Amino acid sequence: MPATVVVCTQWGDSGKGKFVDYLAEDADLIVRYSGGNNAGHTVVVGDEKFALHLIPCGVIRGKRVAIGNGVVVNPHVLKDEIDYLESRGINVDLTVSERAHVITEKHIEKERGESRIDTTKRGIGPCYEDKIGRRGTRMIDYAKEHKEFQEMIGDVSLLVNEALDRNEHVLFEGAQGTLLDIDHGTYPYVTSSNPIAGGICTGVGISPKRIDRIIGVAKAYVTRVGKGPFPTELGTYEKTKAEGRWEEIEPNFEEQLEDALKRANGGNKYYQGKYMRLQGREYGTTTGRARRCGWFDSVAARHSCMINKPDEIALTKLDVLSGLRELKICTAYRKDGELIERFPVELEGCKPVYGTFGGWEEDITQIRDFNELPKNAQTYVSILELYLKAPITMIGVGPEREQIILNQY
Ligand code: IMP
Ligand code: MG
Repeated sequence: MPATVVVCTQWGDSGKGKFVDYLAEDADLIVRYSGGNNAGHTVVVGDEKFALHLIPCGVIRGKRVAIGNGVVVNPHVLKDEIDYLESRGINVDLTVSERAHVITEKHIEKERGESRIDTTKRGIGPCYEDKIGRRGTRMIDYAKEHKEFQEMIGDVSLLVNEALDRNEHVLFEGAQGTLLDIDHGTYPYVTSSNPIAGGICTGVGISPKRIDRIIGVAKAYVTRVGKGPFPTELGTYEKTKAEGRWEEIEPNFEEQLEDALKRANGGNKYYQGKYMRLQGREYGTTTGRARRCGWFDSVAARHSCMINKPDEIALTKLDVLSGLRELKICTAYRKDGELIERFPVELEGCKPVYGTFGGWEEDITQIRDFNELPKNAQTYVSILELYLKAPITMIGVGPEREQIILNQY
């Protein structure tokens, strides 16, 4: 299928990078369409780990990559990322849209000390503000003053449309997630662009008719970094933040993990979330912040699936749940005694209604065949599939490139 999209159905950090890397093997061109270096994609290849923020992570496969007009570009980050990749032996064949807007020091300065929604402080919002306010600087103008960028910029819309005309495989790499979408997410606790699949049309300049295959990415549980409502959260924003960043956790990680599991299986909700956080290494690639964790929210997932209409789902990090005695899936919300099944515009006061399922103890990271998964894991996946109303065709069981179960139908 020539034009494929990978889009997150949650609040970002669903492990898209791993699937983009996997799908990039068959792609000719990989394109980003929204956000900026607020994103963080981690790809593990053997003993090597790559963390990228701006350049599509398909670049690691040595493929041609592009950054669409919908992305906001910090030229310093771009330059550093190119140097980083080249220093690690990767050839960077990149075109940046001449229409993409440039993040300046002024944008970053404007966000300093920001705590209202707890952004990534990369100047993303202020840059989009200037773009919409028609006073932004585009790459075309920036490159006139900074000649080293002249070679790199071009008409990405034309590039992509011509590639599709030649029947080449183009992979659109989403950043952030549907619930962070400026229009369809949990406003105002959102990013300033359109990460949804529809964002490709404006963020690259292609017709909606050209998109052939949409892959929704859903983590087996939910995380959120930054402030904002999160109905299925286990613990609180404040408590998670108080745990500290990854550097502070790492020295006695094993002890903390063991302790968290014991308490989680004793029924302590906060530790159920903490276990997900530790086991899933839920600390930001971009900011190192601890991510808030919670049970799978099928109300939010249905909303995302309605908006993106994925043909299939890539379920990630199923292995992280191993060890938990009981798993929950949020099937609806309750607010003021009323049952809510549609994702509401205001999440405040929505309490999750859960279905409870048996967990599994086995390590599943080496399993490559769906039928070899523990029965309870198979059931968990099947239940999610029912709620998502889309087939789960790929299941991530570990961070490595090979740790994928292809679920054939
Ligand atoms: P901004 O994108 O830096 O403006 O941040 C706005 C909100 O989106 C904050 O809650 C961020 O934590 C969140 N956010 C932005 N980028 C990402 C991402 O790549 N993953 C997860 N959350 C993100
Ligand atoms: Mg991320």
